[in-house]
Amino acid sequence: MKEKFDKLYLDLETDKNDIKSLSTLNDFRVKYLGKKGSLKLMMKDMANLTNEQRKEFGKKVNEVRDELEKFIAEKAKEIELIEVNKKLEEEDIDVTIDFEDELSGTRHPISLAMKELVTIFTALGYKMNEGPEIETVFNNFDALNSPIDHPSRSENDTFYFSDGLLLRTHTSGVQIRTMKSEELPIRMISPGRCFRKDELDATHSPMFHQFEGLVVGENITMSDLKGTLTRFAKDMFGEETKIIFRPHDFPFTEPSAEMDVSCFKCGGEGCKFCGGNGAIEILGGGMVHPKVLERCGIDSTKYSGFAFGIGIDRIAMLKYEIDDIRLLYQNDRRFLEQF
Ligand code: PHE
Repeated sequence: MKEKFDKLYLDLETDKNDIKSLSTLNDFRVKYLGKKGSLKLMMKDMANLTNEQRKEFGKKVNEVRDELEKFIAEKAKEIELIEVNKKLEEEDIDVTIDFEDELSGTRHPISLAMKELVTIFTALGYKMNEGPEIETVFNNFDALNSPIDHPSRSENDTFYFSDGLLLRTHTSGVQIRTMKSEELPIRMISPGRCFRKDELDATHSPMFHQFEGLVVGENITMSDLKGTLTRFAKDMFGEETKIIFRPHDFPFTEPSAEMDVSCFKCGGEGCKFCGGNGAIEILGGGMVHPKVLERCGIDSTKYSGFAFGIGIDRIAMLKYEIDDIRLLYQNDRRFLEQF
């Protein structure tokens, strides 16, 4: 019996040295602990032993098994660690390597336009707030004084989920969230992605980007809105740019206006770029409707505010003279590399 164990120990020692990977470790486990492994075979011999010897033998076999199991578990950990480190070393990225120029990325024109807008308004003291693209019907329409039968609410115009949620049609919901939760005065901008059920063509996309601004406080007037947007237009399109306010109608602002800028190509004379008008429509805005303030818990007899909304895609198209909105979403490298 003693010789059998001596032989087993000897074999174990040599085999242990051969374990170099998880698969050789598994072979080792099968050889000794498997169904037909050495330990099982040794147990068969127990039949010829006396009770006394069998007890001792069994005890020893159990000891060996426990030891082997412990050894295998530790060895597995050790090998895994070595393999992970080896993999990490092999996959190490050499950041000093030279890339060919053509593989480096460029900023997307929408990101460029958005960055410029954010820079202009943060310089004027505005804080950027972002909100979810999935918005409640309340924040997207109700709180904004949108009449229940307004066409923009219909299933034809808006992407609805089943439970009072929708893909936001503008970023105005972020203004509502801000008015409900933040202290006055408010001076904020909200850039982001919006969705409407528009057919894709040269000037429409069901997904687009908006940039909205909101100011609420005491004594905020329409002339503050005009002054702010004049500054914006000059920073964006050049110091000589003029603005034109045209009356308009939005449910959430009263009075409301649309704003044009003098064409930055021809300076207002009329050219191909501005379609001969000398002016280019750029945004919508107005004084926040008292009902909107009240719905957000703001006393409209004490406070007033203005808001405006700019299409970022449109700004990018004007700035970079892109004549088809679809180009912005096709991710064609030949197009993107130009920016
Ligand atoms: N949310 C408006 C829209 O998408 C834009 C806008 C914002 C107009 C704020 C006026 C004031 O049509």
